[in-house]
Amino acid sequence: MNKLPPISEEEIQTWIAKLRAMRKYRLLDLPETLLRDLIIEESARHNNPNVVFQAVRQKLHNIVAPYLGDPDYPTAQTAMQAAFASGNPQAVREFCLSMLASHASTRERIPLLDEFYNRLWQITGLPQTILDLACGMQPFALPWMGLPATTRYDAYDLHRPRIELINRFFELGGYPCRGYHQDILVTPPPVEADVALFFKEAHRFEQRRRGACLPFFRALRVRWLLVSLPISSLTGTRNLEDRQRHLMETILAGQSWQVKEIRFENELVFCIQKT
Ligand SMILES: C[S@@+](CC[C@H](N)C(=O)[O-])C[C@H]1O[C@@H](n2cnc3c(N)ncnc32)[C@H](O)[C@@H]1O
Repeated sequence: MNKLPPISEEEIQTWIAKLRAMRKYRLLDLPETLLRDLIIEESARHNNPNVVFQAVRQKLHNIVAPYLGDPDYPTAQTAMQAAFASGNPQAVREFCLSMLASHASTRERIPLLDEFYNRLWQITGLPQTILDLACGMQPFALPWMGLPATTRYDAYDLHRPRIELINRFFELGGYPCRGYHQDILVTPPPVEADVALFFKEAHRFEQRRRGACLPFFRALRVRWLLVSLPISSLTGTRNLEDRQRHLMETILAGQSWQVKEIRFENELVFCIQKT
């Protein structure tokens, strides 16, 4: 196949602007590093610009996963202010539950909230520093995590309104935590931590770029890396357990890291001891 010459900076900028202007992404302020990475990668694989653009759009749809759900962010900001202003911890918890319910990944964990994190810490010990990688709405589970008030919890996501809401939540709740608007595949967080949570995203990383997970896992400077994968399809009709276990075995092949597995109703968590 005849390859096109490398895509010019001008073309990259034109495509970035076009992707950002799309209705479903307009408000998300997706990181330029993400869009640039996808455009460069796909333009090296196809030689028809229309095919490249379609491939980038398809990947972006899979990465941003709008079908997993979102709250209306301005309304959520107002409701969160009111919950904290009430001075009633139960009102704050109810607000958090509504945020967890707004996204499919966290909604599934609601029935397990009281045990889920406790079971993780039984393996890792109670962490003092946590990275929540591709966090989605998970930081709103903090009230159920049983962590000391001093725990530093850094949350990373591509979605600007989500990260802004999370940062306001940390501020109002007095948590010593911070959200970062960042593509963690292009720029893995360089900070050290006791535990990294990388939940329900490893299979998508592999779809974005086959073989992406292992270098990413290696780059993380954490003692424990907890990777989860969903074991039922979004419709709940297919059991993905064997397939997901096989995927993790393939990703970790040849590594000497110790791995312990926890099985929840909808999710397998692989607890990888890196050091
Ligand atoms: C399937 S959800 C999982 C959310 C959360 N980890 C959980 O299990 O509840 C995936 C999240 O990862 C984010 N995401 C996907 N790729 C990312 C990347 N390269 N860097 C940062 N965030 C990413 C998406 O915006 C979305 O919020």
